[in-house]
Amino acid sequence: MFGKKKTTVGLDIGSSSIKVVEIVRDRSGDRLVNYGISEPLSEAIVDGEIMDRQMVHEAITNLMESRQIRNRSVATAVSGRAVIVKKILMDRLNEEDAKEAIQWEAEQHVPYDINDVSLDFQIINPNVDAKKMQVLLVAAKKDMVQNHAEIIREAGLTPTIIDVDSFAIQNAIEANYEFVPGETVALVNIGAEITNLNIVRDGVPHFTKDLSVGSNNFVEGIQRRHNVSQPEALQALRGRSDGGIDVTAIVQAACEDLSVQIDRAISFLKSAGDADRIDRILVSGGSARIPGLTDFLSGRHHVPVTVVNPVQRLSFDPGLFGGDAPESIAPMLTVAIGLALR
Ligand SMILES: Nc1ncnc2c1ncn2[C@@H]1O[C@H](COP(=O)(O)OP(=O)(O)OP(=O)(O)O)[C@@H](O)[C@H]1O
Ligand SMILES: [Mg+2]
Repeated sequence: MFGKKKTTVGLDIGSSSIKVVEIVRDRSGDRLVNYGISEPLSEAIVDGEIMDRQMVHEAITNLMESRQIRNRSVATAVSGRAVIVKKILMDRLNEEDAKEAIQWEAEQHVPYDINDVSLDFQIINPNVDAKKMQVLLVAAKKDMVQNHAEIIREAGLTPTIIDVDSFAIQNAIEANYEFVPGETVALVNIGAEITNLNIVRDGVPHFTKDLSVGSNNFVEGIQRRHNVSQPEALQALRGRSDGGIDVTAIVQAACEDLSVQIDRAISFLKSAGDADRIDRILVSGGSARIPGLTDFLSGRHHVPVTVVNPVQRLSFDPGLFGGDAPESIAPMLTVAIGLALR
């Protein structure tokens, strides 16, 4: 207790595993003091929604205990189809009045019953012209957010922040990378079920969407084509196949699905007059290391593609990652790091 620094904890409940990081923030900078990744969670979470509550809350409890994290306050995030982020134009209002008006505005933009969603917003450009302002609208299904918070409480923790995966990723990356003013960067976080796509310029998210693409598509593709079990397909995807399975064709096909959606996002930005191209792609998430993935994306979109290292500007004990290279594990921790840095 004596002289113990206060920490911040980020908890990322992903469909393949739960990730936690603990950071000390003080005048000397941000220090990563602890991290943990749970055992695989098969089928407990589907499209960002928690199906097997018991399994998830036990996994959280075990993870916090095994990593000996004592801080019970955590920042967490939601993702998937039940979360909608949109940049909208609305009448110029002050913050207070906008709070009321957003309810009506949201009805036009959110495909769910407005009474079933939690809304949040941020004014990103208060005077687009004499009448209009630009607002970032965030809507998430209430039952999903509540469910998420409840499971965390069942594990004996207090969710102090409930963010959105894409914004946490952006936060982690902005803390670790420099951006040239005016450049348009696609942040692509590829998980097991979901890819969080967020196209950012000058710190503003211009297009944010969770796509139903992830390593599970790659794994299923390998299983079908090579008639192998799921564990074998996973090994092959990690470049560790004994059976000499060549995953190139499957990686390319699954990446093409992703690229088509990136193209659509760029077309959308073009038609909105927000950007006519992306300048580079930063990839994170556990699937960032799938062999051939970055080369494919780079060739397909004709831009540089980098795998993010979200701890490059954090300090940490050299032994923290054991024998592993930090940059091989850290891409998977991007959401959790962005949350702990809130
Ligand atoms: N070294 C590796 N090479 C290839 N793939 C990997 C490697 N390490 C992890 N993966 C893949 O990354 C996936 C997990 O990524 P991540 O932890 O970002 O997903 P998640 O957050 O649990 O899922 P989601 O966000 O989609 O719900 C695993 O399912 C695995 O297939
Ligand atoms: Mg994830």
